[in-house]
Amino acid sequence: MENAAINGKKIAAGKAIEYIRSGMTLGLGTGSTAYWAIQGIGEQVKQGLSVRAIATSLQSESLARELGIPIVPFSEIDHLDITIDGADEVDEKLNLIKGGGGALLREKIVASATRFYIIIVDESKLVHRLGKFPLPVEVAPFGWELTSRRLEELGGQPKMRMAGADAYLTDNQHYILDCSFGLIENPAELHTQVSGITGVMEDGFFINMADIVIAGSPGGDTRLLKKGVTI
Ligand code: A5P
Repeated sequence: MENAAINGKKIAAGKAIEYIRSGMTLGLGTGSTAYWAIQGIGEQVKQGLSVRAIATSLQSESLARELGIPIVPFSEIDHLDITIDGADEVDEKLNLIKGGGGALLREKIVASATRFYIIIVDESKLVHRLGKFPLPVEVAPFGWELTSRRLEELGGQPKMRMAGADAYLTDNQHYILDCSFGLIENPAELHTQVSGITGVMEDGFFINMADIVIAGSPGGDTRLLKKGVTI
């Protein structure tokens, strides 16, 4: 089962990097699926592909550097041509829950600067309705208890993400509250409510952002999902 998921991730990543051309500026995602995309881009760079990139986490940035993918600061670019990233859940409208790997704030900054946003998943991430995966919410450590209470008032059950005995800290030195809301009827509305709470730095809803989703199956097939269409 474990290997099947890895295969689906790798296959989806391989398909996504076919969209990349020399001269592009890329966003590099975070997580075990994006890992395969970064590996694939690294191999192509070794063969002469000329790209530059911004990574969505320190971990992905260090992998990219190891593989010889040039990293640029935001001061040198104003958009990204393509970003390839994973997701924790994808619904039929291609709305996403992301942030299982803790990189949601950087991921959303990169996604919002991206012209063509490709999500790669193994097919187990495709759901009818978002919410089985608790919504990651990145919050300021200052006053987090109050922020947590506001999330409860919206019907969530926030749980502090831990790293051993300590609170998990994001690359931005924030906490993450993983919030169960049950199956979510209206993700766009809940996103507006959650992101409106003072102290919330970003939430893991990515509404109407993905241009395409590539879902890999353990058997080696891929499905290309576009907004409103299944091919
Ligand atoms: C990182 O913060 C996340 O948004 C990841 O993109 C998401 O958790 C998917 O991760 P995997 O590809 O490891 O399942």
